[in-house]
Amino acid sequence: MVEINKIREQFPILHQKVNGKPLVYFDNAATTQKPLSVIEALNTYYTKDNANIHRAAHTLAARSTEMFEDTRKTIQAFINARELEECIFTKGVTESINLVAQTWGRKFLQVGDEVVITCMEHHSNIVPWQMICEEKGAILKVIPINDSGELLMDEFDKLLSPKTKMVACVWVSNALGTINPVKEIIEKAHAVGAKVLLDGAQACSHLDVDVQTLDCDFLAISSHKLYGPTGVGVLYGKRELFEAMPPYQGGGEMIKEVSFERTSYNEIPYKFEAGTPNIGDVIAFKYALDFVNELGKENIRNHEKELLHYLVNGLLRLNETDVMSSGVETHHYASPQKTITLIGTAKEKVSVQSFIIEGMHHFDVGMMLDARGIAVRTGHHCTQPLMNRLGLDGTVRASFSVYNTKEEIDVFIEAVSKLVKK
Ligand code: ALA
Repeated sequence: MVEINKIREQFPILHQKVNGKPLVYFDNAATTQKPLSVIEALNTYYTKDNANIHRAAHTLAARSTEMFEDTRKTIQAFINARELEECIFTKGVTESINLVAQTWGRKFLQVGDEVVITCMEHHSNIVPWQMICEEKGAILKVIPINDSGELLMDEFDKLLSPKTKMVACVWVSNALGTINPVKEIIEKAHAVGAKVLLDGAQACSHLDVDVQTLDCDFLAISSHKLYGPTGVGVLYGKRELFEAMPPYQGGGEMIKEVSFERTSYNEIPYKFEAGTPNIGDVIAFKYALDFVNELGKENIRNHEKELLHYLVNGLLRLNETDVMSSGVETHHYASPQKTITLIGTAKEKVSVQSFIIEGMHHFDVGMMLDARGIAVRTGHHCTQPLMNRLGLDGTVRASFSVYNTKEEIDVFIEAVSKLVKK
């Protein structure tokens, strides 16, 4: 059980009016809000501790370095990585995937090799692979989906062959909420000798993560979707892979020795952490991970699952002829309604629901909801190929976090009920 009022107290941003109405923040798949502990950690860092890390002998530098490395320890435990050095700090999931494509891909992909992705990838797990495939003469293949937004695993089986070198797969779809069967994907990919990269951007705030049990080769994580600051990501990779990969960027920190003739590189993880990193935000990210650990993923998941069911039932009831529900009370209307179509109805889902309203542009729906203080994302959600497959140019997407409530969903359903009146 989560104590919702206590949780909401920790998120000052939620307690404001937007367009004269109490804010209802349902855009958590885009970014989650940050608890006070994260905000205060940033304030404390810049008020007391700011110094560059790994470089100087002075006290502030030692303090900053220790706190930065503490976050690495916390994330190692959070994902159950075997070794600390298998966790690299990046700017986010996009940079992590580009890093793997540009280093592992550049070294190991050859003409005719195949990279398999899914139809529901975010652009950040499509474009980096297209770029490297084009450069290396490799071929990009795509696992199709059914109309509910689930991967067609039989088709995946047919795509796999000894030519498959990488399967880069989103764990949880940002647009549909589908949880993909990643354990099965990893086993099947490994059986043909391929490596697997998981885009964990949407998964890590909802699902338990154990990279050793999963046996994934790479996992990309985003801090800002996990109640932490923007501009921080973690790339997990198996030691032997990171060691075999060339560096991504050259610069300070990633070197052992530099002369004008040649440079030798640092050990992992520093080999991949060129330049001054986002120190303050990495330090604050630890407090976000502590927040999630204290609540417990199972409690978070159960709460969010309840919210998802409540929302879906509320939206579907709006489609019942001349009966519309605000979730609590049921109102009867004589006039006909515009139909709401749910997009993304996989059996295994996180708390993300896309939908469209007959005859209404998703952007207009978003603007009308915003006028009532409700924040949702509209558009293609950086998944244009997925939208093409579904025959849509975009959806309205509501996505929940642990601080959302059924009362907020009532407000949302009431607002949508006004829009669907013909
Ligand atoms: N990838 C983020 C989203 O789905 C930004 O909204």
